[in-house]
Amino acid sequence: MSEFKKTVLCIGAGYVGGPTMAVMAHKCTNYKFHVVDINPKRIDAWNSSDLPIYEPGLDELVFERRNKNLFFTTEVAQGIAEADIIFVSVNTPTKTYGHGAGIAADLQYWEKTARQIAEVSTSDKIVVEKSTLPVRTAEAMSKILKANSRGLNFEVVSNPEFLAEGTGIEDLLTPDRVLIGADESPSGQRACQEIADIYSHWVKPERILTTNVWSSELSKLVANAFLAQRVSSINSISALCEATEADVNEVAHAIGTDSRIGPKFLKASVGFGGSCFQKDILNLVYIARSYGLEEVADYWEQVISVNEWQKSRFVRKMISSMFNTLAGKRIVLFGFAFKANTGDTRESPAIEVTKQLLEERASVVITDPKAIENAKIDLVEYLDQIEFEEDPYKAAEGAHAIGVMTEWDLYKELDYQRIYESMQKPACLFDGRNVLDHSALHELGFHVFPIGKSPLVHH
Ligand code: NAD
Ligand code: UGA
Repeated sequence: MSEFKKTVLCIGAGYVGGPTMAVMAHKCTNYKFHVVDINPKRIDAWNSSDLPIYEPGLDELVFERRNKNLFFTTEVAQGIAEADIIFVSVNTPTKTYGHGAGIAADLQYWEKTARQIAEVSTSDKIVVEKSTLPVRTAEAMSKILKANSRGLNFEVVSNPEFLAEGTGIEDLLTPDRVLIGADESPSGQRACQEIADIYSHWVKPERILTTNVWSSELSKLVANAFLAQRVSSINSISALCEATEADVNEVAHAIGTDSRIGPKFLKASVGFGGSCFQKDILNLVYIARSYGLEEVADYWEQVISVNEWQKSRFVRKMISSMFNTLAGKRIVLFGFAFKANTGDTRESPAIEVTKQLLEERASVVITDPKAIENAKIDLVEYLDQIEFEEDPYKAAEGAHAIGVMTEWDLYKELDYQRIYESMQKPACLFDGRNVLDHSALHELGFHVFPIGKSPLVHH
């Protein structure tokens, strides 16, 4: 007889699977959590002192629960066989081939997982869709499982994850809500309750929302689309602010104090990044088009177009403010991660900015406290043209311009007098995150170009 009430398996030990299971293991010490992945390097790292992802607070939780009720292995089949509940948290990238390439979700990994669960299981399972998936994927998964059930009962539940990287542990510990979508049948409702039971170890009942499966799947895509839409909205206004001498921070504050609008996600930037916003909006667009809802699709597609435009606009501003040529100029990018407090660079605006700077034949230097290794992977085709330097002071030596790509706190605390003195003159600073003290930098001698505000230049 096991010492644990239930055995929970998580397939996929990534940015979602690892932190989610670590928090559950911390809060539910009477459950066993087994995290599996097909990538042995990732699993080795989860079992080491150097975890494969950087997330504030994660190390402590993993080190506290690992090998007590939290286990990381590559034993997918064994894990499936032993589990009562299976969270599937594998990646769901955009399709790169065939019909829907570049827009639809690539569901081959999902389908393989469903088939493997059916093949290996010897007892009933609750299968939880944790990855973000197109609406009605749970139905497809149910059909595959039922067609191969050999008399077993598989209940598919949707439980999308809303954590944001950099604040993932905090988000998991104090979620605004937990969403569980389940079938309305008695067995579906029992499965829903089993998942709610896990969360109720630390989440108040009123924050555990239950819906039907399709609403749950769609809500995840819509939440990301709405968040990204706010960023594109304020970024579009940032261009208007630059043209009219309005200040985008003042505008964001003025509109954000309206309780109907609210203050969050109104920070103008060089563009949004991250592995999900673009992917999930594309998914929404694809679904809308597949139902013949062209206007809906066009509306949401525009959120991505504005984001692409904002990144190019940032580079164009560099060109026009630096005598219309960047050729041979040393430009240092402060930060490469798609946001602060993560080493993740997936879809980071810094990738596109770097590529456009290289097209202009600039000499690019990249510095970041956590993301240099990932940056090297993203830019593998350009490695001979880029310098990577962990020390921001060294990176800035001899540079013509600095571009702030990530809002790391450390960039707010640097000695900019020292940096200014080591740079070429005129020294330009393009703050793609509006995080530095622009008037202080201007006083030091920099030409400062914020987002959505008038530049501070010397004549
Ligand atoms: P990730 O790429 O970091 O991790 C996915 C892991 O799944 C990888 O380690 C991969 O090796 C593994 N995997 C793939 N196929 C497998 C298989 N058949 N068996 C075992 N392991 C397998 O991805 P992620 O960022 O954790 O995202 C996972 C899902 O969660 C995506 O659908 C994403 O949209 C969603 N999501 C992500 C975030 C986030 O902040 N990253 C937040 C909410 C939701
Ligand atoms: C986002 C959502 O916030 C999560 O709820 C969701 O679970 C997750 O996507 C997902 O599905 O993967 P994440 O991408 O980790 O989380 O980070 P965000 O804080 O949302 O930031 C996304 C991007 O928008 C970053 O590049 C960030 O710098 C940018 N951003 C955000 C702005 O430019 N301005 C803002 O005001 C807010």
